[in-house]
Amino acid sequence: MKALILSGGTGSRLRPLTYTGAKQLIPVANKPILYYAIEAIRDAGITEIGMIVGETREEIRRAVGDGNRWGVKVTYIEQDAPRGLAHAVKIAEPFIGTDDFLMFLGDNLVRDGVTAFVNQFRQDAPNSLILLSRVPDPQRFGVAELQDGRVVNLVEKPKEPKSDLALVGVYLFDRHIFKAVNEIQPSWRNELEITDAIQYLVDHGYRVDAHVIDGWWKDTGKPEDVIEANRMMLEYIGSRVDGVVDESSAIIGRAIIEAGAEITNSTIRGPVIIGKGAKISNTYVGPFTSISEGVRIIGSEIENSIVLQDTQIEDIPTRIDNSLIGKNVQIHRIADRPRALTFVLGDNSRAEVQ
Ligand code: TTP
Repeated sequence: MKALILSGGTGSRLRPLTYTGAKQLIPVANKPILYYAIEAIRDAGITEIGMIVGETREEIRRAVGDGNRWGVKVTYIEQDAPRGLAHAVKIAEPFIGTDDFLMFLGDNLVRDGVTAFVNQFRQDAPNSLILLSRVPDPQRFGVAELQDGRVVNLVEKPKEPKSDLALVGVYLFDRHIFKAVNEIQPSWRNELEITDAIQYLVDHGYRVDAHVIDGWWKDTGKPEDVIEANRMMLEYIGSRVDGVVDESSAIIGRAIIEAGAEITNSTIRGPVIIGKGAKISNTYVGPFTSISEGVRIIGSEIENSIVLQDTQIEDIPTRIDNSLIGKNVQIHRIADRPRALTFVLGDNSRAEVQ
């Protein structure tokens, strides 16, 4: 069995971060989202991975390389434009050949991995097995209707959902999916939809089974999803202090302080992760915060947030909460009168002040 990870796409809902980087490489708990997918695939015993890449191909290649680090072999497959999930399957046919394969959306996180899912496919040998999760708001998702455990109908974002079973971004297929992706037509948004390809399988008498997961998963399409994913992943961290914490600082609860990080006269209330070389002084870092390498935070309070590499935050009088702050950002207070807010924000930025 092989795997296909989809790491192309536009990432428009995560602008401005996606102007300068791939959304699949945004870190949660200081690890790129994409790495969790690679690990889940490796843990399910699959070692040959095709990586669909688009505009951000160079950055993904730099971050993942040949996969050796994880004991897997990564082959890059170029998609000329984001023409849909089923289009990605179509262009992967030369790589997949006649093998069965696991398809994993590179911006999805599945906490408990995909091993049980892969095992069910290996045991029952359907033509496709789709991963589903019960959700309170099925209108926002692709929704599956089941009969006797088999999938009979799939609808993208239904106004009146027939079930509360949403499609999670992980699928298993045998070679018949290639017939489906070659037969279907582009949708109203001009993409080849994977739901249409799976529906094609159902309509042509192929067996499509469902696997419902209980564990937490997240499609990290929007900033609030990334912050929630960060919260979830920080729930599982341990405690380790490799950096320097001075005597006037307190670490409460679970925290990882990486080598070269310096904590001075500050309170860290976990779960928190602080990356290499970060400098935190006279500051409160509250629960569910991930601070990347080289960040400096002085005289401020922050919680439930993600701060990316080399950003500087200084003397902010109000607590920063629920925020996703990119690389090399500078947020600081100026003493000059008149009191004013001064911004240099990229296109599609969002700042909320009180
Ligand atoms: P989406 O989140 O559906 O699409 P997107 O990345 O274009 O995001 P947005 O809607 O915010 O513009 O994609 C799910 C995953 O699949 C994501 O990792 C990107 C990847 N993808 C491809 O690799 N090729 C494609 O043609 C599409 C549509 C997505």
